[in-house]
Amino acid sequence: MVAAQFDLTGRTALVTGGGSGLGAAMAMALSDAGASIVLVGRREDRLKATLGSRDGAIAAIDLVRQDAEKDLSQHMASLGIEPDIIVNAAGINPRLSADDISSSEWQHTLHLNLSVPFLVAQQFVPGMKAKAWGRIINIGSLQSSRAFENGIAYGTAKGGILQLTRAMAEAWSRFGINANALLPGFFPTELTAPVFEDTGKVENLARQTAMGRNGRLDDICGPALFFASDASAYVTGQALAVDGGFTAK
Ligand SMILES: NC(=O)c1ccc[n+]([C@@H]2O[C@H](COP(=O)([O-])OP(=O)(O)OC[C@H]3O[C@@H](n4cnc5c(N)ncnc54)[C@H](OP(=O)(O)O)[C@@H]3O)[C@@H](O)[C@H]2O)c1
Repeated sequence: MVAAQFDLTGRTALVTGGGSGLGAAMAMALSDAGASIVLVGRREDRLKATLGSRDGAIAAIDLVRQDAEKDLSQHMASLGIEPDIIVNAAGINPRLSADDISSSEWQHTLHLNLSVPFLVAQQFVPGMKAKAWGRIINIGSLQSSRAFENGIAYGTAKGGILQLTRAMAEAWSRFGINANALLPGFFPTELTAPVFEDTGKVENLARQTAMGRNGRLDDICGPALFFASDASAYVTGQALAVDGGFTAK
């Protein structure tokens, strides 16, 4: 039964950036498919509101802090939770030019967008290995393969996500842990609010897609469920663009 392959009953998914935007949309999709969800971010109120009455937990933590991934791991252990699925959706885009970005802004962006996905996954891989089953979903971007204005730090991190995903697959897939990346196009979230405020820019971006529109949060749900479930059993180290054909043109 193909439908059974998408069933996440009995699985637990940890979603960084799960309090808002694409992370929240993916967490809701995995929860709808039967998973218990753990939402991670800095804003506790936001995490609580997003979780609502669903089965799961929250972890209010600043992932850029030194050893944050270890604190997260200890918090999960104290709750008796061992995630089967990790969605690395926490991210920032400082939108600073190559001439102006400071060393600290550069390091902050690279750390949260590229290092944290690895460091968080590394904490939970032993538990996945013990179960011989795991799924890691990293989030890239159009900027994984294209250079955008004022995207030097963000794009560098998102380009790195492609190789991080392949390297994770190489290291861990033989233990039943698949790692894949989703590459979203333009979706209206807090991260892209500065872009969506400019109607002309938004329409121009929509025109650059094959479908003639930008993303809706629901568009990320099916692809996330595919990578989180048994449906992607023989898929690892891959990147799937969810961009309405932006990169196909
Ligand atoms: N929207 C798009 O068009 C688009 C396109 C391509 C890729 N993406 C990627 O999709 C992912 C989600 O972004 P989004 O668009 O959904 O924007 P978003 O709503 O702003 O989500 C970003 C999340 O990251 C969390 N976060 C930021 N800094 C953090 C930190 N230091 N520690 C822990 N959590 C932190 C935020 O929660 P707190 O503020 O509560 O910490 C927030 O929930 C990002 O990786 C982004 O690069 C988005």
